[in-house]
Amino acid sequence: MDNPLIRDAMNYVKEIFENDFGGHDYYHTIRVFKMATKIANVEKANIIIVQLAALLHDVDDRKLSPNTFKQKERATMFLKRCKIPEKQIIWICEIISEVSFSENGSLIPNSLEGKCVQDADRLDAMGAIGIARTFAFGGNNNRPMYNPQIPPGNKLMDNDSIKCKRSTSINHFYEKLLLLKNLMNTKTGIEIAEKRDQYMREFLDEFFSEINGDN
Ligand code: ADP
Ligand code: NI
Repeated sequence: MDNPLIRDAMNYVKEIFENDFGGHDYYHTIRVFKMATKIANVEKANIIIVQLAALLHDVDDRKLSPNTFKQKERATMFLKRCKIPEKQIIWICEIISEVSFSENGSLIPNSLEGKCVQDADRLDAMGAIGIARTFAFGGNNNRPMYNPQIPPGNKLMDNDSIKCKRSTSINHFYEKLLLLKNLMNTKTGIEIAEKRDQYMREFLDEFFSEINGDN
């Protein structure tokens, strides 16, 4: 990365996630950064705003403390240290809030830049990576992989209800992941989402044909 500001942001994020625990993942952030950059280039969005928001989108996790999460403390501190103008700091923090809004699906970001970052974050929950993350999350949270006696909810669930409900990793596809394709904002995001959605459907078809003893 040849922009020193972006290089600094990458190092900052790496440092945070190395010393942190509880669901943070540096490589998720880097994938979101790369995908958001790709989308922003096609959509002609402000690249630096998109890149900074993508890199900082998970540093103020709600698990840390509700206040830190609300105030975007770490993101703001980093951006101030880098002498980013106040107006841009507010803009970047607004994007981070929009991306991490817990009621999935009900919030469309105000700016094109927010739309690029939200699409990138959602795409990382889809496709082969999305499948892997879902079962990793399920394992970490002691959720069963699959239980035919627990049917999936049939509407898009927000993160908090997903967390409270006793459900399975397979159900998570029906409760959230297969609905993401229709929530994408940008043309580029929609194209990639269609491919990833198809891949998840093929995975589920194969999973259930094995469960049913068809092959
Ligand atoms: P992000 O880092 O993008 O904010 P989350 O912290 O909401 O994402 O979730 C991390 C990963 O775990 C995502 O891939 C998500 O689909 C998956 N996940 C979230 N909730 C569940 C669940 N109830 N069951 C299985 N996987 C889940
Ligand atoms: Ni994320």
